[in-house]
Amino acid sequence: MQKMKDSTDENIKIKENLKGVEHVVMVMSGKGGVGKSTVASNIALTLADKGRKVGLLDIDIHGPNLPKILGVGRKRMTASSNNRIEPVHITDNLKLVSMAFLLEDENQAVIWRGPLKMKVIQQFLGDIEWGDLDWLIVDAPPGTGDEPLSMAQLVPATGAIIVTTPQEISLLDVRKSVTFAQKLSLKILGIVENMSGLICPNCGAEIQLFKKGGGERIAKEMDIPFLGRIPIDPDVVDATDSGIPYVKEYPDSLVTKAFKDIVDKISNPPV
Ligand SMILES: Nc1ncnc2c1ncn2[C@@H]1O[C@H](COP(=O)(O)OP(=O)(O)O)[C@@H](O)[C@H]1O
Ligand SMILES: [Mg+2]
Ligand SMILES: [Zn+2]
Repeated sequence: MQKMKDSTDENIKIKENLKGVEHVVMVMSGKGGVGKSTVASNIALTLADKGRKVGLLDIDIHGPNLPKILGVGRKRMTASSNNRIEPVHITDNLKLVSMAFLLEDENQAVIWRGPLKMKVIQQFLGDIEWGDLDWLIVDAPPGTGDEPLSMAQLVPATGAIIVTTPQEISLLDVRKSVTFAQKLSLKILGIVENMSGLICPNCGAEIQLFKKGGGERIAKEMDIPFLGRIPIDPDVVDATDSGIPYVKEYPDSLVTKAFKDIVDKISNPPV
């Protein structure tokens, strides 16, 4: 495990900067494309809708897509009054920071090695004017590489939500994420099984594509909480592709209900 330079100074600065932040939660997974960014953004939107003050931090440095999902891809962060950096405001109580806001254009590739990634995550945590937040939700890239490792080292009290899909291979990856979180003493809030069953676009009934319940079984096996299943809904793809906040646009859907249940579970008992 790599050792950080000046870790104590940086940790003190970050601790000071995040002193108004109550809960920090990182959304992780073993594989890409399982819905981390979808889950992170919709949990954040659901919390914000309940009146909580929420920050979203996109530490997927190679594939930062929260700005696009939330329809603010063209915005940029600005200097705050005290010459620090202000996140991009999505709504009154939801603000976003992403690597995407620092890139010239969205097709620009980021080729960075571990120490540089650690540095930018340090700045996201230490130099951004987050203010008072009830929740800071962090969207991580897949796997257990530099970004989630930096996060765990820089903010030791981080909670982890692990996203999986019902396919067997994805569940094997869950074990790696769980082991990573346990080794780094993250507080595992639980597992979310995404893309679990399909909502029929014609009649709204649920169709089972893969055997469901794998997420719940593995949660039980590993003795961690199961936070819920989210079905596949074509409206999710449409919304995320066009930058429309899904749970706001479809307040009565099964998927929105699933997000509300997940938010209830992570806020009660509060982490
Ligand atoms: N429950 C869902 N129903 C339908 N599509 C989904 C669902 N969850 C995610 N997706 C879609 O799957 C793709 C990958 O999701 P994303 O959140 O970007 O994954 P990750 O961040 O893990 O790489 C996106 O196109 C997204 O719209
Ligand atoms: Mg993502
Ligand atoms: Zn049908």
